Amino acid sequence: MSAEILKPTEEALKKAASLIRKGGLVAFPTETVYGLGTNALDANAVAKIFEVKQRPRFDPIIVHIANLKDIERLCREVNERARMLIKKFLPGPLTLVLPKSDIVPDIVTAGLETVAIRMPAHPVALKLIKMAKVPIAAPSANLFGCLSPTTAKHVAEQIGENIDLIIDGGKCPIGIESTVLEIVEKPLILRPGGLPIEEIEKVIGKIEISSLSKRPRSPGQLERHYSPRTPLKILKKDSVVPPGIKAGLLAFKPPEDKLSFEKIEVLSVSGDLREAACNFFSCLHRLDKADLDIIYAEPVPETGLGKAIMDRLRKAEGIKMGRFATAINCMDGRVQMPVTEYIKNKYEVDYVDMITLPGPNKVLAESKDKSTLESIKRCIEISLNLHSSKLIAICGHFDCAGNPANQESQIKQILDAIKVTKLWFPDVRVTGLWVNQSWKVEEVKCM
Ligand code: TXA
Ligand code: MG
Repeated sequence: MSAEILKPTEEALKKAASLIRKGGLVAFPTETVYGLGTNALDANAVAKIFEVKQRPRFDPIIVHIANLKDIERLCREVNERARMLIKKFLPGPLTLVLPKSDIVPDIVTAGLETVAIRMPAHPVALKLIKMAKVPIAAPSANLFGCLSPTTAKHVAEQIGENIDLIIDGGKCPIGIESTVLEIVEKPLILRPGGLPIEEIEKVIGKIEISSLSKRPRSPGQLERHYSPRTPLKILKKDSVVPPGIKAGLLAFKPPEDKLSFEKIEVLSVSGDLREAACNFFSCLHRLDKADLDIIYAEPVPETGLGKAIMDRLRKAEGIKMGRFATAINCMDGRVQMPVTEYIKNKYEVDYVDMITLPGPNKVLAESKDKSTLESIKRCIEISLNLHSSKLIAICGHFDCAGNPANQESQIKQILDAIKVTKLWFPDVRVTGLWVNQSWKVEEVKCM
């Protein structure tokens, strides 16, 4: 059952504040995205956040404050440039990474010597932090690596079952996460976000943007972030949408030509980047739910908030077009070729990792033998991790011995095997492929 969802009344905020003080987990709105908050000074409470988000331990969490004075308590030193930015932009969508003081638990900063501080410009968030009387550690209220939530409903769908309360403050007005700026020695943008970099540069001069190629200092820089489950590709001038594919379009402005898109989401009717950022995650959530094979995203101009949007799109694209894993049910080498070709073409990948199951899909679909199932799961897990795969294809083929009666039962096994695999790997796309008598590959749709 999902956590209670309450409007931000005085009473609801009182309840939320008390939960947070006691180390409970409360999702709340900010001007950027919804956060999943708890008492930042309580290491056990923060540990629960990692669990619920299924977040790797190395990923540090932003500490949210409602009073600028708290910065002095949480940080060892605040340099002049940081002070200028605090004065100009806080509260607002800017997170400052500064040297941490001893009161910040290591788990919050994942062992780093710095802490990320943010004062949100949202009346509900500010009121909640004030009432809680403790700084609130809060990552975005989504599962690790998935789309950030910009409505209470997005939160409820992803993690609602495992948290204590959701405060529904409506849609987040900015809609894209805060800009993260490390300002210890040389200022360095760790994540472009809700405050355009140009605005910051007006105050402290040119700043370097941390590049992905270096070891990530901030896991927001990891490639596998902010991604829908459906593969996503940024549209290029010469992109052609292959026929027979259910494609969706994330358009910047209303498109002139609807082409063959199954579903289109428009970021901004007037082509305004602010409006586009605000709608960005909602549009992607809707496309992701539309059971599409692929989402094409139109690039947006890379100025102001456009930089943050393109950053999220590139990260979403980066992983999807990597390599894919395939669990195949048969020992018949002849099936591997058509299946590999099909996956490469349809899902635009360069490499298919074949796992041969000990026996047909029956093992996955019907096996009561826990240890066999565990070892299959482990094989798939290794392949997924090794290749950052985002697709598992369960494959089957016609009965080479020519018994047509087998076909139906095998398709049923594929469908059941898909169900099992989906339970194991809810974040990975799972599909079924069937090689027919003419060696053509067909998708087996999960009902
Ligand atoms: O807009 C936002 O920033 C939202 C709302 C809820 O405030 N929060 C958010 O948190 O996006 P999260 O955890 O999803 O992303 C925070 C980013 C991560 O990429 C994290 O690695 C980085 O900030 N970060 C946090 N502490 C850091 C530190 N000490 N050094 C470097 N990066 C840090
Ligand atoms: Mg996040």
